[in-house]
Amino acid sequence: MSLKEKINLNNLPQHVAIIMDGNGRWARKQGQERVFGHQNGVQAVRDVTEAAAELGVQFLTLYAFSTENWNRPKEEVNALMELLIHTIHQERHTLNKNNIRLRVIGDLESLPKNCFREITEAIEETSNNSRLNLVLALSYSSRWELTAAMKQIAREVEAGKINASQISEKTIESHLSSTGIPDPELLIRTSGEFRISNFLLWQIAYAELYFTPKLWPEFGKEDFYEALIAYQQRERRFGMISEQIHKTS
Ligand code: IPE
Ligand code: IPE
Ligand code: MG
Repeated sequence: MSLKEKINLNNLPQHVAIIMDGNGRWARKQGQERVFGHQNGVQAVRDVTEAAAELGVQFLTLYAFSTENWNRPKEEVNALMELLIHTIHQERHTLNKNNIRLRVIGDLESLPKNCFREITEAIEETSNNSRLNLVLALSYSSRWELTAAMKQIAREVEAGKINASQISEKTIESHLSSTGIPDPELLIRTSGEFRISNFLLWQIAYAELYFTPKLWPEFGKEDFYEALIAYQQRERRFGMISEQIHKTS
Protein backbone atom coordinates (compact mmCIF):
# COMPACT_ATOMS: atom_id res chain seq x y z
CA MET A 1 0.00 0.00 0.00
CA SER A 2 1.48 3.33 -1.01
CA LEU A 3 1.63 6.22 1.45
CA LYS A 4 -0.95 8.06 -0.62
CA GLU A 5 -3.40 5.17 -0.30
CA LYS A 6 -3.04 5.25 3.49
CA ILE A 7 -4.56 8.72 3.63
CA ASN A 8 -8.19 8.82 4.68
CA LEU A 9 -9.75 11.27 2.25
CA ASN A 10 -12.72 11.74 4.58
CA ASN A 11 -10.47 13.13 7.30
CA LEU A 12 -8.30 15.54 5.39
CA PRO A 13 -7.34 18.84 6.97
CA GLN A 14 -9.12 21.62 5.14
CA HIS A 15 -6.09 23.85 5.60
CA VAL A 16 -2.42 22.93 5.82
CA ALA A 17 0.18 25.59 6.63
CA ILE A 18 3.90 25.08 6.05
CA ILE A 19 6.99 26.87 7.36
CA MET A 20 9.30 26.10 4.45
CA ASP A 21 12.68 26.15 6.15
CA GLY A 22 16.20 24.93 5.41
CA ASN A 23 16.93 26.21 1.88
CA GLY A 24 20.18 27.87 2.92
CA ARG A 25 21.51 24.88 4.82
CA TRP A 26 20.59 22.57 1.96
CA ALA A 27 22.64 24.69 -0.45
CA ARG A 28 25.61 25.10 1.89
CA LYS A 29 25.75 21.33 2.42
CA GLN A 30 26.62 20.97 -1.23
CA GLY A 31 29.04 23.86 -1.26
CA GLN A 32 26.63 26.22 -3.05
CA GLU A 33 25.41 29.73 -2.28
CA ARG A 34 22.25 30.03 -0.19
CA VAL A 35 20.25 31.35 -3.14
CA PHE A 36 20.76 28.00 -4.89
CA GLY A 37 18.70 26.52 -2.07
CA HIS A 38 15.89 29.01 -2.64
CA GLN A 39 15.88 28.20 -6.35
CA ASN A 40 15.58 24.49 -5.58
CA GLY A 41 12.89 25.15 -3.01
CA VAL A 42 10.57 26.15 -5.86
CA GLN A 43 10.26 22.55 -7.03
CA ALA A 44 9.17 21.52 -3.52
CA VAL A 45 6.50 24.23 -3.66
CA ARG A 46 5.26 22.83 -6.99
CA ASP A 47 5.21 19.25 -5.69
CA VAL A 48 3.39 20.04 -2.46
CA THR A 49 0.88 22.31 -4.20
CA GLU A 50 0.14 19.56 -6.71
CA ALA A 51 -0.19 16.95 -3.95
CA ALA A 52 -2.56 19.16 -1.96
CA ALA A 53 -4.71 19.88 -5.02
CA GLU A 54 -4.85 16.22 -6.06
CA LEU A 55 -5.94 15.10 -2.60
CA GLY A 56 -8.56 17.81 -2.19
CA VAL A 57 -6.97 19.98 0.51
CA GLN A 58 -8.70 23.33 0.11
CA PHE A 59 -6.17 25.76 1.58
CA LEU A 60 -2.40 25.54 1.54
CA THR A 61 -0.52 28.40 3.22
CA LEU A 62 3.20 28.67 2.60
CA TYR A 63 5.45 30.89 4.69
CA ALA A 64 7.66 32.29 1.94
CA PHE A 65 9.09 35.48 3.45
CA SER A 66 8.75 36.82 6.98
CA THR A 67 8.86 40.38 8.22
CA GLU A 68 12.11 39.42 9.96
CA ASN A 69 13.59 38.11 6.71
CA TRP A 70 13.99 41.75 5.58
CA ASN A 71 16.95 41.80 7.97
CA ARG A 72 18.91 39.31 5.86
CA PRO A 73 21.83 40.49 3.70
CA LYS A 74 20.56 42.77 0.94
CA GLU A 75 21.76 40.45 -1.84
CA GLU A 76 19.75 37.55 -0.43
CA VAL A 77 16.62 39.67 -0.03
CA ASN A 78 16.97 40.92 -3.61
CA ALA A 79 17.52 37.41 -4.92
CA LEU A 80 14.41 36.19 -3.08
CA MET A 81 12.29 39.01 -4.53
CA GLU A 82 13.58 38.30 -8.03
CA LEU A 83 12.86 34.60 -7.59
CA LEU A 84 9.38 35.40 -6.38
CA ILE A 85 8.61 37.60 -9.38
CA HIS A 86 10.06 35.09 -11.81
CA THR A 87 8.28 32.10 -10.25
CA ILE A 88 4.88 33.74 -10.07
CA HIS A 89 5.21 34.92 -13.66
CA GLN A 90 6.17 31.43 -14.77
CA GLU A 91 3.51 29.58 -12.77
CA ARG A 92 0.50 31.78 -13.50
CA HIS A 93 -0.51 29.66 -16.43
CA THR A 94 -0.19 26.40 -14.48
CA LEU A 95 -2.18 27.81 -11.57
CA ASN A 96 -5.02 28.63 -13.93
CA LYS A 97 -4.80 25.33 -15.75
CA ASN A 98 -5.10 23.50 -12.42
CA ASN A 99 -7.89 25.72 -11.12
CA ILE A 100 -5.74 27.03 -8.25
CA ARG A 101 -6.45 30.40 -6.70
CA LEU A 102 -3.48 32.43 -5.52
CA ARG A 103 -3.91 34.52 -2.39
CA VAL A 104 -1.48 36.43 -0.22
CA ILE A 105 -1.29 37.37 3.44
CA GLY A 106 1.21 39.91 4.73
CA ASP A 107 2.34 43.48 4.35
CA LEU A 108 2.16 43.59 0.55
CA GLU A 109 2.86 47.29 0.42
CA SER A 110 6.36 46.72 1.74
CA LEU A 111 7.25 44.60 -1.31
CA PRO A 112 9.15 46.10 -4.25
CA LYS A 113 6.76 47.65 -6.79
CA ASN A 114 7.41 45.13 -9.58
CA CYS A 115 6.91 42.27 -7.15
CA PHE A 116 3.67 43.79 -5.85
CA ARG A 117 2.42 44.23 -9.44
CA GLU A 118 3.22 40.66 -10.51
CA ILE A 119 1.48 39.27 -7.44
CA THR A 120 -1.64 41.40 -7.64
CA GLU A 121 -2.02 40.48 -11.31
CA ALA A 122 -1.72 36.78 -10.54
CA ILE A 123 -4.21 37.10 -7.67
CA GLU A 124 -6.65 38.83 -9.99
CA GLU A 125 -6.12 36.40 -12.83
CA THR A 126 -6.74 33.34 -10.63
CA SER A 127 -9.52 34.83 -8.52
CA ASN A 128 -12.27 32.65 -10.00
CA ASN A 129 -10.41 29.38 -9.46
CA SER A 130 -11.86 27.11 -6.84
CA ARG A 131 -9.97 23.83 -6.47
CA LEU A 132 -7.19 24.87 -4.10
CA ASN A 133 -6.41 28.19 -2.44
CA LEU A 134 -2.66 28.65 -2.45
CA VAL A 135 -1.95 31.30 0.17
CA LEU A 136 1.53 32.82 0.17
CA ALA A 137 2.65 34.49 3.39
CA LEU A 138 4.82 37.33 2.11
CA SER A 139 6.39 39.98 4.27
CA TYR A 140 4.23 38.36 6.89
CA SER A 141 4.53 38.08 10.61
CA SER A 142 1.82 37.31 13.05
CA ARG A 143 2.66 40.20 15.36
CA TRP A 144 2.53 42.61 12.42
CA GLU A 145 -0.88 41.19 11.50
CA LEU A 146 -2.24 41.35 15.05
CA THR A 147 -0.94 44.88 15.58
CA ALA A 148 -2.53 46.06 12.33
CA ALA A 149 -5.81 44.37 13.35
CA MET A 150 -5.81 46.02 16.77
CA LYS A 151 -5.12 49.44 15.25
CA GLN A 152 -8.00 49.02 12.83
CA ILE A 153 -10.39 47.88 15.56
CA ALA A 154 -9.34 50.80 17.77
CA ARG A 155 -10.08 53.19 14.89
CA GLU A 156 -13.56 51.71 14.51
CA VAL A 157 -14.18 52.10 18.23
CA GLU A 158 -12.96 55.70 18.07
CA ALA A 159 -15.26 56.40 15.14
CA GLY A 160 -18.18 54.96 17.10
CA LYS A 161 -18.73 52.13 14.60
CA ILE A 162 -18.47 49.47 17.32
CA ASN A 163 -18.44 49.41 21.11
CA ALA A 164 -15.44 47.95 22.91
CA SER A 165 -17.82 45.55 24.68
CA GLN A 166 -18.87 44.13 21.31
CA ILE A 167 -15.35 43.00 20.37
CA SER A 168 -15.38 39.24 20.01
CA GLU A 169 -13.06 36.60 18.56
CA LYS A 170 -14.97 37.09 15.31
CA THR A 171 -14.14 40.82 15.31
CA ILE A 172 -10.46 40.00 15.64
CA GLU A 173 -10.60 37.26 13.01
CA SER A 174 -12.29 39.60 10.56
CA HIS A 175 -9.46 42.12 10.83
CA LEU A 176 -6.63 39.66 10.16
CA SER A 177 -5.07 39.47 6.71
CA SER A 178 -6.19 35.83 6.67
CA THR A 179 -9.84 36.71 7.19
CA GLY A 180 -12.20 34.29 5.50
CA ILE A 181 -9.60 31.52 5.46
CA PRO A 182 -10.33 28.73 7.96
CA ASP A 183 -7.71 28.05 10.64
CA PRO A 184 -5.09 25.48 9.66
CA GLU A 185 -5.65 22.10 11.26
CA LEU A 186 -2.08 21.08 10.47
CA LEU A 187 1.15 23.08 10.60
CA ILE A 188 4.30 21.56 9.14
CA ARG A 189 7.83 22.90 9.67
CA THR A 190 10.80 21.49 7.84
CA SER A 191 14.53 21.63 8.66
CA GLY A 192 14.44 20.26 12.20
CA GLU A 193 13.74 23.57 13.93
CA PHE A 194 11.10 23.46 16.65
CA ARG A 195 9.70 26.96 16.55
CA ILE A 196 6.92 28.99 15.01
CA SER A 197 8.93 32.07 13.95
CA ASN A 198 6.05 34.54 14.19
CA PHE A 199 3.72 32.58 11.91
CA LEU A 200 -0.10 32.52 12.28
CA LEU A 201 -0.04 32.76 16.09
CA TRP A 202 -3.77 33.43 16.33
CA GLN A 203 -4.78 30.92 13.66
CA ILE A 204 -2.81 27.91 14.96
CA ALA A 205 -4.46 27.96 18.39
CA TYR A 206 -5.58 24.34 17.88
CA ALA A 207 -3.43 23.22 14.94
CA GLU A 208 -1.58 19.94 15.08
CA LEU A 209 2.16 20.63 14.80
CA TYR A 210 4.37 18.42 12.67
CA PHE A 211 8.13 18.83 12.55
CA THR A 212 10.43 17.04 10.12
CA PRO A 213 14.23 17.15 9.82
CA LYS A 214 13.96 17.24 6.02
CA LEU A 215 15.26 20.48 4.50
CA TRP A 216 12.70 22.26 2.33
CA PRO A 217 14.30 21.55 -1.10
CA GLU A 218 14.23 17.81 -0.30
CA PHE A 219 10.61 17.82 0.87
CA GLY A 220 8.30 16.17 -1.66
CA LYS A 221 4.88 14.64 -2.14
CA GLU A 222 5.71 11.55 -0.08
CA ASP A 223 6.80 13.74 2.84
CA PHE A 224 3.55 15.65 2.58
CA TYR A 225 1.60 12.37 2.64
CA GLU A 226 3.55 11.28 5.74
CA ALA A 227 2.60 14.49 7.51
CA LEU A 228 -1.06 13.95 6.64
CA ILE A 229 -0.95 10.37 7.90
CA ALA A 230 0.64 11.52 11.17
CA TYR A 231 -2.10 14.15 11.46
CA GLN A 232 -4.79 11.52 10.96
CA GLN A 233 -3.34 9.42 13.77
CA ARG A 234 -3.72 12.22 16.30
CA GLU A 235 -6.72 12.66 18.55
CA ARG A 236 -7.91 16.26 18.47
CA ARG A 237 -9.67 16.84 21.77
CA PHE A 238 -10.16 20.63 21.85
CA GLY A 239 -10.04 20.63 25.63
CA MET A 240 -12.49 17.75 26.03
CA ILE A 241 -11.80 14.17 27.06
CA SER A 242 -11.29 11.19 24.80
CA GLU A 243 -14.68 9.60 25.56
CA GLN A 244 -16.50 12.72 24.42
CA ILE A 245 -14.69 12.63 21.10
CA HIS A 246 -15.65 9.01 20.47
CA LYS A 247 -19.26 9.35 21.54
CA THR A 248 -21.44 8.48 18.57
CA SER A 249 -24.72 10.28 18.97
C1 IPE B 1 13.68 29.16 4.21
O1 IPE B 1 15.00 28.73 4.16
C2 IPE B 1 13.37 30.20 3.18
C3 IPE B 1 13.20 31.56 3.71
C4 IPE B 1 13.21 31.89 4.97
C5 IPE B 1 13.02 32.61 2.75
P1 IPE B 1 16.16 29.54 4.89
O2 IPE B 1 16.67 30.56 3.94
O3 IPE B 1 15.70 30.04 6.19
O4 IPE B 1 17.25 28.41 5.07
P2 IPE B 1 18.08 28.09 6.39
O5 IPE B 1 17.09 27.95 7.49
O6 IPE B 1 19.01 29.23 6.60
O7 IPE B 1 18.78 26.81 6.07
C1 IPE C 1 10.84 31.25 8.90
O1 IPE C 1 12.12 30.80 8.59
C2 IPE C 1 10.34 32.13 7.80
C3 IPE C 1 10.07 31.45 6.53
C4 IPE C 1 10.10 30.17 6.32
C5 IPE C 1 9.70 32.33 5.45
P1 IPE C 1 13.41 31.54 9.16
O2 IPE C 1 14.58 30.75 8.71
O3 IPE C 1 13.38 32.95 8.79
O4 IPE C 1 13.17 31.41 10.72
P2 IPE C 1 14.18 31.46 11.94
O5 IPE C 1 14.98 32.72 11.77
O6 IPE C 1 15.06 30.26 11.83
O7 IPE C 1 13.34 31.44 13.16
MG1 MG D 1 15.68 29.29 8.06
